Amino acid sequence: IRILFATSEAYPLVKTGGLGDVSASLPEALCRAGHDCQILLPGYPAAINAAIDAGSKRTTRIRHGQYDIGLWKANLPGTSVGLWLVECPALFERQGDSPYQDTGGEDWWDNAYRFELFGRIGAMMAMGQLGLSWKPDVVHCNDWQTGLLPVFLKSFHASPPTVFTVHNLAYQGLFSQETFRALGLPDHLWNFEQLEFHDQLSFIKGGLVFSDAITTVSPTYAREIKTPELGCGLDGLLRHRAARLSGILNGIDTEVWDPQHDPYLKVHYSQEDLTGKAECRKQLQQALGLKIGPAPLLGFVGRLVEQKGLDWLLEVIPALLRQGCQFALLGSGDARYKKALQALASQWPDQLALTLGYNEAMAHRITAGADLFLMPSKFEPCGLNQMYSLRYGTLPVVHGVGGLNDTVFDPAEASSDIANGFVFRQPSSGAFMNAIERALNAWEQPETWLQLQKNGMAGDYSWKSRAKDYINLYRSLINEQ
Ligand code: ADP
Ligand code: GLC
Repeated sequence: IRILFATSEAYPLVKTGGLGDVSASLPEALCRAGHDCQILLPGYPAAINAAIDAGSKRTTRIRHGQYDIGLWKANLPGTSVGLWLVECPALFERQGDSPYQDTGGEDWWDNAYRFELFGRIGAMMAMGQLGLSWKPDVVHCNDWQTGLLPVFLKSFHASPPTVFTVHNLAYQGLFSQETFRALGLPDHLWNFEQLEFHDQLSFIKGGLVFSDAITTVSPTYAREIKTPELGCGLDGLLRHRAARLSGILNGIDTEVWDPQHDPYLKVHYSQEDLTGKAECRKQLQQALGLKIGPAPLLGFVGRLVEQKGLDWLLEVIPALLRQGCQFALLGSGDARYKKALQALASQWPDQLALTLGYNEAMAHRITAGADLFLMPSKFEPCGLNQMYSLRYGTLPVVHGVGGLNDTVFDPAEASSDIANGFVFRQPSSGAFMNAIERALNAWEQPETWLQLQKNGMAGDYSWKSRAKDYINLYRSLINEQ
């Protein structure tokens, strides 16, 4: 099957979160399974430069409205996955590492224009209008940035089928009605059954309404988004499209996240022999200026935003510090959370280490060196970090929502050969604290602990089986035509 995988992020070229990881590891898995999956990505400077460094060239050049557009064909670095870059200096040549925001953290004023154009070019490419020799059998879109692609594609006769994957329903790409007009979108799309959402233009609705199949990144999240609590105002639409909506759990890149070969670690370990993990822990404590010793070490890596349960985290940390726990925290995000964490770090320098910013090496070192990994997310479509930590023998403590519910199993609820972490179900800091206390009790019992670690490490988090669900879905859509 020829698949065009349209996305606004792809690791290692551009990544703000799990979308970047999945947009690299899923296409790779599809290619490994014998399919021809090619990624379509905006031509951000980092991506164009990597293409130039790899000796790639511009394949074609077109004029579209006021824009000069080039199309580059390259490979996703380090892989044989085909990568198409939409070069448009006026829209994509921007300063900073974020694909969506300026260096001050404000959304680019013209994001609607940037991703509308991306969607249009994607649709033209899928229809074979760019004079390329390659044409997809199916188009796979991801999140609001690609929401208009299915809209444009459906305006053509005999277009390939589309899959739209929701990685996070909370980000919807909402813009004003003036923007809708300025983009020249047809008037008849301005109604609440199509692109309008409470008087605003909604990019994500384009994907949810016009795609042939909707997927999201875990079975539990697929159920949750049909409820008013987690439906972000779109639950009615999703219930309406329920027959076309399914949840496929994300996989992870088991080569990038492998405690036996991780290049960011000086010492390696495996399920059979965990001695290296103790050394990783010591090195982490040393590097972070934490007291080396037996105190439990609790890790957190993630975006510092409300979704990730930062409020609950901030509520439980002081009591745990008083009990002697240590913390290794890494993240970037909202200023208010940064400030609150910085205050704790300066108050408890021997016990709480905070690393701000995006730091791939530190993410790996915390995942390996910590005893517990905290993920008290308010909601979590899938979550990758809990799978990374399971693989590294670092037991996750999670809120039982979304993909966390589908990957972490509590000994109080699951049999002893499956249990691999700790889950709290009530949405409160008290319930979170209670789960951490239970985890700390288990940590005091080495045999119980080792069994939980081994169960986690033995799990299959790879894309191998999970990619099959996408392949079956593509097939069924192609056959429907
Ligand atoms: P989300 O996509 O909602 O942010 P995921 O758990 O799916 O959550 O994926 C987050 C990804 O981003 C993981 O690969 C995680 O390690 C990484 N990540 C998040 N914040 C940082 C950071 N500050 N430094 C390094 N990696 C980070
Ligand atoms: C989103 C979600 C996260 C998910 C990731 C990849 O960013 O917040 O839960 O793992 O997408 O699908």
